[in-house]
Amino acid sequence: MAYDFNTIASSYDRLNYIMTAGMDRLWRRRGVRWLMRGLVNPKTLDVAAGTGDLAVEICSCGAALPVVCVDLSEKMLAVAESKLSENGEYIVADAEHLPFQDCCFDCVASAFGIRNFLHLDRGLSEMARVLKIDGRLLILELSTPDSRFVRFFYNIYAHHIIPWLGSHIAGNREAYTYLPNSIERFPKGDAMLQKLESLGLRAEQRKFFFGVCRMYICVKR
Ligand SMILES: C[S@@+](CC[C@H](N)C(=O)[O-])C[C@H]1O[C@@H](n2cnc3c(N)ncnc32)[C@H](O)[C@@H]1O
Repeated sequence: MAYDFNTIASSYDRLNYIMTAGMDRLWRRRGVRWLMRGLVNPKTLDVAAGTGDLAVEICSCGAALPVVCVDLSEKMLAVAESKLSENGEYIVADAEHLPFQDCCFDCVASAFGIRNFLHLDRGLSEMARVLKIDGRLLILELSTPDSRFVRFFYNIYAHHIIPWLGSHIAGNREAYTYLPNSIERFPKGDAMLQKLESLGLRAEQRKFFFGVCRMYICVKR
């Protein structure tokens, strides 16, 4: 079963900020800068939009059309709506069965969401399906660092400090034990690029903070 983010919706933003020392905002901003560069008023879909921080960045880049925010969790989307109001459109739906026609968005984006899909390939293929030809897909996702030296410190942080923060700030140790475990199991780098290329996307990656966050930037052929 998919992890239920309704349980942590009220503390999600605060804990993200503390856990990443605010870097999550910079990572979203850098992704959105690439996504929106040179586009005028693109029709944009935020998949697994959660509390809407990616959509907020998209709006701050001057998007005039409402960003379509899709998520499984009503409570996460309610927080998004409190930030974006009429700059967003909010749809409770499964990313693995997107309720849109083929090729209808100029841009599709997802930040820290795809790791939570039950069937990653199905979700990615849905995101590629709804994207127009030459449209842009942005994925931001957490990953384990490549360097063994950095990974040593990362593991202490991810497996001890993050669950501790989760239990003391969100009152939910389970959710923040799930987080590092889900990062470890998740494909990264070339494995992810291959998946994206197999869907007819031209894909590249950029690493942030020793590879703790990766940005996959793709254009539909
Ligand atoms: C870690 S949060 C990321 C939220 C937000 N995108 C951000 O930048 O912080 C992951 C989100 O993915 C959503 N999610 C997980 N599986 C999903 C699916 N199959 N379809 C839609 N949303 C999903 C969860 O409900 C949750 O809100």
